[in-house]
Amino acid sequence: MSVLEKISSQDAIALEEKYGAQNYHPLPVVLNRGEGVYVWDVEGKKYYDFLSAYSAVNQGHCHPHIIGALKEQAEKLTLTSRAFYNDMLGKYEKYLSEYFGFDRVLPMNTGAEAVETAMKLARKWGYEKKGIHSNQAKIIVCQNNFHGRTISIISASNDPAATENFGPFTPGIFSIRYNDINALYEALADKNVAAFMVEPIQGEAGVYVPDEDYLKEAYKLCKEKNVLFIADEVQTGIARTGRLLATCGNCTCSDKLCSGTPDVKPDILILGKALSGGVFPVSAVLADNHIMDVIRPGNHGSTFGGNPLACAVAIAALEVVKSENLAEKAFCLGKLFRSEMRKLIEKTSLVKLVRGKGLLNAIVINDTEDSSTAWELCIALKENGLLAKPTHGNIIRFAPPLVMTEDQLLDCISIISKTILAYEKEKS
Ligand SMILES: Cc1ncc(COP(=O)(O)O)c(C=O)c1O
Repeated sequence: MSVLEKISSQDAIALEEKYGAQNYHPLPVVLNRGEGVYVWDVEGKKYYDFLSAYSAVNQGHCHPHIIGALKEQAEKLTLTSRAFYNDMLGKYEKYLSEYFGFDRVLPMNTGAEAVETAMKLARKWGYEKKGIHSNQAKIIVCQNNFHGRTISIISASNDPAATENFGPFTPGIFSIRYNDINALYEALADKNVAAFMVEPIQGEAGVYVPDEDYLKEAYKLCKEKNVLFIADEVQTGIARTGRLLATCGNCTCSDKLCSGTPDVKPDILILGKALSGGVFPVSAVLADNHIMDVIRPGNHGSTFGGNPLACAVAIAALEVVKSENLAEKAFCLGKLFRSEMRKLIEKTSLVKLVRGKGLLNAIVINDTEDSSTAWELCIALKENGLLAKPTHGNIIRFAPPLVMTEDQLLDCISIISKTILAYEKEKS
C-alpha cells in the first residue's frame, strides 16, 4: 500500500495507536475534510465541528480567503528565517500591532512558545526596568491554568497529568487561586513579582468565567504595584468570547457589545490558535515599546517565527474576523446557545449548568468527576453528527466555528438536547 492511499477509520486509528506516542485520547472519528462549520470522516459522514480545534478554527474550516492567501504566498516564498528580511513580516507586524493597539509584535508559532516568550519578556523587563535583583524575578499564575506544555509552563501547572515525573521544574513561578482578588493583592506585596499571567476565561480547566470585575481589579492592582499584566488570550482571543479580546483592550467590535465591560489593556498580550484561522501554527506576543525594547538581537527567536507564509495567513485570518463581524456573531449566538441550554437543563437532571461567554461555553454533567458520562455523551453526540470533547472532570466544552449561522446553531442545539435526553432515558 502506498503511504498516502485512502484508508478506513479503523485502519487510521490502528496506525496512530501503533506508531504514535500515546499523548492524546481522541474521540474515535477520523476526519479528512472540512468546510466552514462542517467536517467529514473518511467514510463520508458529515458532522458539525463543535470544538473548532480548541478554538483555533474560529473562521471556519478552510476559509477561502485564508486558503487563497496561503496558496498565493506558498507559491512565492515560505521561509527566509530571520537571518534576512522578508517583504511580509513588516507589513504583518504593522497590521497586527494596529489591529490590537500595541507598539510591537514578537512573532512565534505555537501558543506554548508565545507563552514562554511572554514569561521571558516579563523576567527581562523585571530585571532591566523594574530593578528586580538578578535571578529573583517571580511570575504569578492561577491555579488550574492551562498555558501549554513546555517545562516552564508546566512548572506553573497544578494538574498532575501535566506535571507528574516531568520535574525538576522552573523556579520563580507561583500560583494563587483564580478569581480571588485578595490572593492577588497578597501575592503582589512581594517586590520581586515581575508579572501576573492569567487566562481571561479558564478554557481548558472547564470554561471558568471569573466574576465581572475580576480582570479589571487585577489589572488595577498590577498597575499600582508596577507588575506586568499578561493576558493569555490564546484560546479566548480573536472574537471567540463575543469580543475581539476577552480582556477587551482596544476592542474593535461595536460599542454596543463593549459597554460596561472591564477596561483592561494587557501589558503583554499572547495570541495563537485563531490568529491563523487554524490553517497554520501562528502565535504572537504583543507589547508596547517600554516593555518590548528589552529584547535585543540574539535574546530570543525561532526559525519559523514570522515566516512569510504565516504572515500572509494571519493577515487574511484577521481580515475575516472583521469583514464577517465574528465578534458580534459570537456574542449573539453565545447568548442564544446559553439560553437554549438553560431550557434543556429544566428538562433534565443530567446537566447541572451551562457557563461561558460568546461561543466559548461548557456544560457541567451531573455525575462524579471521574465518571465516564461526559465521554459517553460525546460518543453519542458524534453518532448524531456533532463533535465535541470532554474537558477536565465531567465537563463538555462547546466551541463551534464563529461563522455558524443561527439556523445551524439551532440545529446543533436540537442535536445536543435530543442526545442528552435520549441518553438519560436509556440510563434510567
Ligand atoms: C490559554 C492557552 N494558552 C496556551 C495554549 C497552548 O497553545 P498550543 O497548544 O498552541 O501550544 C493553549 C492551548 O490550548 C491555551 O488554551
